[in-house]
Amino acid sequence: MDIQKVGVVGAGTMGNGIAHVFARQGYGVVLCDIEQTFLERALGTIGKNLEREVARQKLAPEARDAALARIQTSTARGALAACDFVVEAATERFETKAELFRELDSICRQNVALASNTSSISITRLAAQTRRPERVIGMHFFNPVPVMKLVEVVRGLATSDETFHQVRELAVRLGKTPVEVSDAPGFVSNRVLMPLLNEAMYAVMEGVATPEAVDEVFKLGMAHPMGPLTLADFIGLDVCLDIMRVLENGLGDPKYRPCPLLVKMVDAGWLGRKSGRGFYKY
Ligand code: CAA
Repeated sequence: MDIQKVGVVGAGTMGNGIAHVFARQGYGVVLCDIEQTFLERALGTIGKNLEREVARQKLAPEARDAALARIQTSTARGALAACDFVVEAATERFETKAELFRELDSICRQNVALASNTSSISITRLAAQTRRPERVIGMHFFNPVPVMKLVEVVRGLATSDETFHQVRELAVRLGKTPVEVSDAPGFVSNRVLMPLLNEAMYAVMEGVATPEAVDEVFKLGMAHPMGPLTLADFIGLDVCLDIMRVLENGLGDPKYRPCPLLVKMVDAGWLGRKSGRGFYKY
């Protein structure tokens, strides 16, 4: 099926990045969120990030203007009825996403594929909320979406080959590299990354080293662009905690127990960069 218009549900960090890359590539985008202020903030962020690309001569000013003009925003999910493909990038909670998938299933045409940008929730369970489980798939982008090359393409138990090939091709058209992964808690990226970040937090909690020292070890010793605690702040500590809980519940091994310091920081509202305080102050 020819895809011209793409729906993006959720205008947070991931949603605005996903809208950015589709619009830049020439797709019409319908960006949906529950509040107009979230949509306005997202448009501001997309404008700023497109501007970076213009400043670095990766994008012509006219292409920036055209990309912005291709993004329509709406607080009414009914606007998604016009879309040929939808990516959901809402809050990382099963109930929120399940409710959304049920609604998307009733709004979107029957042959439209519904993708989730979830970083850890079961695609198979989300698919089971719909009457089109073969058209449901994971399309997991990485932050910052305009920069990171990877898309983890996650097949649920019922995902059809047609849906898989369609999403893989779409990722390639966006200039990304798709990697096929089966549905399992945390997929590959977060099953491996989150325990690393969690362990770095234990090292801080136990007084083994300061956050700065832990990060230096990884930047200078392993050539990571960001140390694990800077990265955790960048991802959001609430998101890290949610993912650790998915790993702990889904895999049932105590090695996935969230670090108590992480739990405490989230309880305090220290969510990382977005709240102004995490392992560092911003
Ligand atoms: N939009 C567009 N371009 C952006 C951008 C954005 N939001 N953010 C950065 N850039 C561009 C910059 O303009 C710059 O472009 P040039 O290469 O043309 O100069 C380039 O990206 C590098 O940016 P900076 O020079 O500002 O800074 P940097 O070199 O420190 O790189 C970074 C920033 C790309 C974020 C780098 O630190 C990095 O790769 N960090 C690791 C990020 C990571 O691990 N992401 C995955 C998180 S996990 C996840 O997303 C999934 C999950 O499920 C939790």
